[in-house]
Amino acid sequence: MKSLIKYFTFTSELRSDEQSEENILGRRQRIFRPDYKFVRGKDESEIRAEGLNIHIKERHILKDVNLALPDKKITCVIGPSGCGKSTLLKTFNRLIDSVEGIRIEGKVLLNGEDIIGSGQDITRLRRKMGLVSQKPCPLPMSIFENVAYGCRIHGLANKRKLKMVVKHYLEAVGLWEEVCDRLNTPAVRLSIGQQQRLCLARSLAVEPQFILADEATSALDPISSKTIEELFVKLKRNYSIIMVTHTLRQALRIADYVVFMYMGEIIEAGDAQQVFNDPKHELTKKYLSGAFS
Ligand SMILES: Nc1ncnc2c1ncn2[C@@H]1O[C@H](COP(=O)(O)OP(=O)(O)O)[C@@H](O)[C@H]1O
Ligand SMILES: [Mg+2]
Repeated sequence: MKSLIKYFTFTSELRSDEQSEENILGRRQRIFRPDYKFVRGKDESEIRAEGLNIHIKERHILKDVNLALPDKKITCVIGPSGCGKSTLLKTFNRLIDSVEGIRIEGKVLLNGEDIIGSGQDITRLRRKMGLVSQKPCPLPMSIFENVAYGCRIHGLANKRKLKMVVKHYLEAVGLWEEVCDRLNTPAVRLSIGQQQRLCLARSLAVEPQFILADEATSALDPISSKTIEELFVKLKRNYSIIMVTHTLRQALRIADYVVFMYMGEIIEAGDAQQVFNDPKHELTKKYLSGAFS
């Protein structure tokens, strides 16, 4: 029933947007907005963790995490390898559930609603959370279908609208010009950098509120990395972006907010300017000075 409601909400809003769609398409010649969303939803997007503890079997992986991440900003999660960055991100979209021996205590509130617990509609939750992983994983289908897939699942069936949405998101990630003449070829034939942008387009096409990126540029060449970074900066107008980053330099370039983790704990979190220029904690100072990585 819920998916049926989603279907009608999604498609009817697209239909009722006919007028503005023309405007957008017309205006696109002059100003193209990669962050534009076709479906208007609730605008606020806040993630808050309260007393979050994660154990995997006997190991205590996340330790009493209390955190409020700002809306429409880029949050960079930094810290040495193994400190729990990916685990934190996976908790936000409940991908962590699939880990054997997992025990979660505490709350993760998404716009005030606790997402931990059995009553959650995981599909609905994951639709709000676009995930970009370290290695791109295109679906074994064509370029077009990779982007169209999620839209179909979420109820968009009209071919013309589907083409429009696919084109928009391929343009948003700067891929349209490169692939418009081979939309029906398998996505795996693209370069790694192109595949990563395609995966981002696929995530954006279901119009999430959050983008979770786990070292999303670590497998990419410098030019593709820069493209993704620049895109994130544009997207934050309409999305909250939480990225785990493998390089401090990347965080320095694009973070608005920084979370520094060490051995499963949040050591320090705050505005990027403050954390980078005036870290409060001795461990943060050491990490930023390169004493350990
Ligand atoms: N599936 C798992 N089973 C057991 N231990 C795990 C699992 N996933 C992660 N861990 C452990 O949890 C800790 C945090 O891992 P992770 O969140 O991947 O760190 P990071 O992303 O900061 O490198 C590490 O010590 C890691 O070995
Ligand atoms: Mg990781």
